[in-house]
Amino acid sequence: MIYLDNNATTPLAAKVVLAMDKCLKDNFGNPSSAHSYGAKARTAVEKARMQLADLIGASLNEIIFTSGGTEANNLAIFGTAKRFKSGHIITSCIEHPAVLKPLKYLEQQGFRVTYLPVDKYGFVSADSLIQNLRKDTILITIMHSNNETGIIQPIAEIGKIANDRGIVFHSDAAQSVGKVTVNVKKLGTDLLTIVSHKFYGPKGIGALYKRKDLELEPILYGASHEKGLRPGTENVCSIVGLGKAAEIAKKELKGRVYNMKYLSKMLYDELCKQIPGIKLNGHPSKKLPNTLNISFPNIMGSVLLEKLKNEVAASTGSACHEGRHTPSPVLKAMGLSDKRALSAVRFSLGRDTTERQIKIAVTSIVKAYKSF
Ligand SMILES: Cc1ncc(COP(=O)(O)O)c(C=O)c1O
Repeated sequence: MIYLDNNATTPLAAKVVLAMDKCLKDNFGNPSSAHSYGAKARTAVEKARMQLADLIGASLNEIIFTSGGTEANNLAIFGTAKRFKSGHIITSCIEHPAVLKPLKYLEQQGFRVTYLPVDKYGFVSADSLIQNLRKDTILITIMHSNNETGIIQPIAEIGKIANDRGIVFHSDAAQSVGKVTVNVKKLGTDLLTIVSHKFYGPKGIGALYKRKDLELEPILYGASHEKGLRPGTENVCSIVGLGKAAEIAKKELKGRVYNMKYLSKMLYDELCKQIPGIKLNGHPSKKLPNTLNISFPNIMGSVLLEKLKNEVAASTGSACHEGRHTPSPVLKAMGLSDKRALSAVRFSLGRDTTERQIKIAVTSIVKAYKSF
């Protein structure tokens, strides 16, 4: 079985398992306690905060740990909406539901939301962003990279537009952190979402980067953890795992990019050679190095994957919507026909994917395709 679904989730890195195991066994204290058990847990949490801050070019006091990407997105969006109380928000029509659903809720509460269209590659344009700005625009939220196609948005350009006008800028970087360089200062983001399980850390833990002087309202109320922005006793061992995953990502990033680019090109080239008519969805280069979204001629992606289910793990649409055979809204927004969108499969490689695995995967995919 070859795992090519790393955008859905990644396995824990061995060093992450070790760090978490040690923490689970020896570090049960409550980080808020004044005694030495508390101090030990606090030290572990602060070390992880430093490791994560270091990966994204942030300061220690700019990281708020959350239960994952969904919560980080909700905190960014509702926290900003609560601060301003009313106003206009700009997003794109290809965001993850963890952004789109909070925005839908805000619309019901009287906020106005503009959903920017994307071009055939899946990019939003800075021009259309500028055209849609209003005097009361309070927030721009555009994902760093798309979970289905991997295309990377022009975030630094959007950041400059937002920063010049003093508009809060949030980016959901769930899929980017650990796969490509993400530097919050260079991107000009005020808020940025990080998800641990997308880069070999544990599930159920993530973070929101918040620029230090940005005002944000909490969405949970309780004690004063995480500067009052995320109350609740910290999930210490998962935070430790996230920190370790961030430290490893920083060390490995260059190599990961190189390998994943090479192997995903090899996968694409081989499939193109053996299955004429394959089409790439998204942009060939301005994308995550590990993600390959391709449409197979005259077959539904779900049917092909069903045939491959004991050989290759991949995904149609995104894993979060698995089991639903409607065309992906992301691919539809890029102008693809229903037929082409339904024939799409997303292969997402990981740091442990090898050339041998790609060769085996190609053989399996071609055989499965030709069996119909
Ligand atoms: C782009 C994007 N944002 C947010 C999330 C949500 O992350 P989580 O499921 O960890 O809350 C995901 C997960 O698939 C994602 O791909």
